[in-house]
Amino acid sequence: MNNAEPTVAAVLRSIGQQLSSRFEAELLLAGVLKCDRARLFAHPETVLSKSQLKQLNELTAQRIDGVPIAYLLGVREFYGREFIVNPSVLIPRPETELLVEQALKLPVTAQAHVLDIGTGSGCIILTLAAERPDWHFTATDISAQALATAQRNQRRLDLGDRSITWRKGSGYKAFAAQTNHRFDLIVSNPPYVAEQDPHLTQGDLRFEPDIALTAGPSGLELIDELIDQAPAHLNPGGWLLLEHGYDQSEQVCEQMQQIGFDAVQSRQDLAGHYRVAMGSWQR
Ligand SMILES: C[S@@+](CC[C@H](N)C(=O)[O-])C[C@H]1O[C@@H](n2cnc3c(N)ncnc32)[C@H](O)[C@@H]1O
Repeated sequence: MNNAEPTVAAVLRSIGQQLSSRFEAELLLAGVLKCDRARLFAHPETVLSKSQLKQLNELTAQRIDGVPIAYLLGVREFYGREFIVNPSVLIPRPETELLVEQALKLPVTAQAHVLDIGTGSGCIILTLAAERPDWHFTATDISAQALATAQRNQRRLDLGDRSITWRKGSGYKAFAAQTNHRFDLIVSNPPYVAEQDPHLTQGDLRFEPDIALTAGPSGLELIDELIDQAPAHLNPGGWLLLEHGYDQSEQVCEQMQQIGFDAVQSRQDLAGHYRVAMGSWQR
């Protein structure tokens, strides 16, 4: 900013140029002023305080360094609700809304017991809890910080008296002491990017937790484990629903068929990539 008075209009011009994005400038400024974007258009003459301007300049510098806008704002919308995010959790993706959409269509019992493995911000399990008040919910993550963030999101969303059991642990090991704990639906968006995938060094992925992105050299390590061990945790007629990489559909569906799942299929995301594999356990 030069010496001109730092009005909303002037600041948006300047920050918009620095970021080469008027939209991102609006998001950051609305975040600093704790208002929605519409208010910026309604009151372009508002003058920012020194501390607001300082905060905005700091956020702009971080954004120029590549920090994801969701981490700077501390929130991301998912399935119509706002979730707290921070660098300990993956930023919820539109592809994962497909997984939620498919879960809500499945023919499960009215009081289904649902398990979400690798819950991160809690976006999947909390959305299901909001949409299906009569289901029962359990969510796990290997990361204590991620679980803490998910629990903050639970408190923030108005979910009435719905109870969610949170467990820390790797894969199904979170249930090691309860071998007879079975579910009607298991959902997961596990880490599935191959360790050497060049995308890991690009864009938002550079700032997201490794543990949320990669599970081993092929990327399929945790997915395989979740499929192989699912039968021990599913009720007869239960479903397993997994998000996977854009090029992993064939391997994931084959693995499910080999283990003995029925009705195995994968659904396409908005970009036309097969993204969510599902199968039913009938035994
Ligand atoms: C791709 S993120 C998904 C987060 C969230 N469910 C979402 O869809 O935005 C994967 C999550 O799995 C967790 N995770 C990684 N390895 C795990 C494991 N072996 N067992 C349980 N959770 C794991 C990570 O901490 C991370 O929160």
